[in-house]
Amino acid sequence: MRIVVDPSAPDPEVLRKAVAVLRASGLVAVPTETVYGLGALGTDPVALARVFEAKGRPTTHALILHVLDLDAARPLVAGVPALAERLAAAFWPGPLTMVLPRSALVPDAVTGGGPTVAIRAPSHPVVRALLRLLDAPLAAPSANRYQSVSPTRATHVERSLGAAVDLVLDAGPCERGIESTVVDLTGPVPRILRLGAVSAEDLRAVVGELDVQVHVVEPGVAHASPGLDARHYAPRGRIAFAEESEGALALAAVALRANPDAKIALLIRRPPVAATPPQGCSLRVLGDDPVIYARNLYDALHDADEQGATLLIVEQVPHLPAWAAVRDRLSRASNINET
Ligand code: TXA
Ligand code: MG
Repeated sequence: MRIVVDPSAPDPEVLRKAVAVLRASGLVAVPTETVYGLGALGTDPVALARVFEAKGRPTTHALILHVLDLDAARPLVAGVPALAERLAAAFWPGPLTMVLPRSALVPDAVTGGGPTVAIRAPSHPVVRALLRLLDAPLAAPSANRYQSVSPTRATHVERSLGAAVDLVLDAGPCERGIESTVVDLTGPVPRILRLGAVSAEDLRAVVGELDVQVHVVEPGVAHASPGLDARHYAPRGRIAFAEESEGALALAAVALRANPDAKIALLIRRPPVAATPPQGCSLRVLGDDPVIYARNLYDALHDADEQGATLLIVEQVPHLPAWAAVRDRLSRASNINET
């Protein structure tokens, strides 16, 4: 069931209903500022098992616990290093996930049996109101089937997970549209495990030294953060890259000549100056600013799937630090491993 919630004034009745579902080991899809999450009571092994089942995700892939603030995170970790205090002060509530040594309170199902736990305090008013009422950590992976594109709208959740979700709280499109940045604080130097909505430069400004070597690895090979599978966030169609929007249009024309039945989705940054897209191609302008582009990207990938696009032609994005997270998602979506 999907219920529309006003983010500026979430209906307490709806929130109470969501809490009742969660306390009965149910699953509630929640809006966050990044993407929609598939929420389960973070202390309930039955509910946690349902999360993996609903997503079709291996149980070794650890989940993020969502909390209101650093004080709510303290009981879940073995200790809060000074660096975590600084990061929380700078970025919480917001799209930063910190990996820390876990406490005994955290169920094995959350951590994949590992010694660490990932925690973030989201800023979206609906999930915050829910957390206040729940008074417990909310485990929430992105609310999509394993290895498919994360949802930035409630309708994406419904399409991906269907009846496996008991309740979807629909607060409209997500503002950031790309997942949180995951930073590992368990080693001598903080290390980014997943690029995301908080940029590496912004993080470095707070922590000083930072390891930003996010390694793309082949699926199935053991590695530090299971979310780093090379093929991840993938639409069903194939992705091809083009330089400039005019190049994308030209490539579409070539592809259509080779296969007149191809269904092509063009994803470009700026409107093309002169040309119009060939007949039958959909065209979407995502924006020339990395924050706006990120907000639109997954929605465009979902749209392409909906239209049955067999080929997505994507205008390449700049090789600049501000675009790193977007580039990362595009490369995973296309399964091109960049070095
Ligand atoms: O923006 C987000 O982070 C969204 C919203 C719903 O909060 N959540 C999300 O969850 O993207 P998920 O499960 O799709 O991705 C969580 C990432 C994965 O890459 C996972 O491997 C990593 O965090 N992760 C979770 N626990 C970890 C741990 N203990 N150590 C290392 N990586 C961990
Ligand atoms: Mg995910």
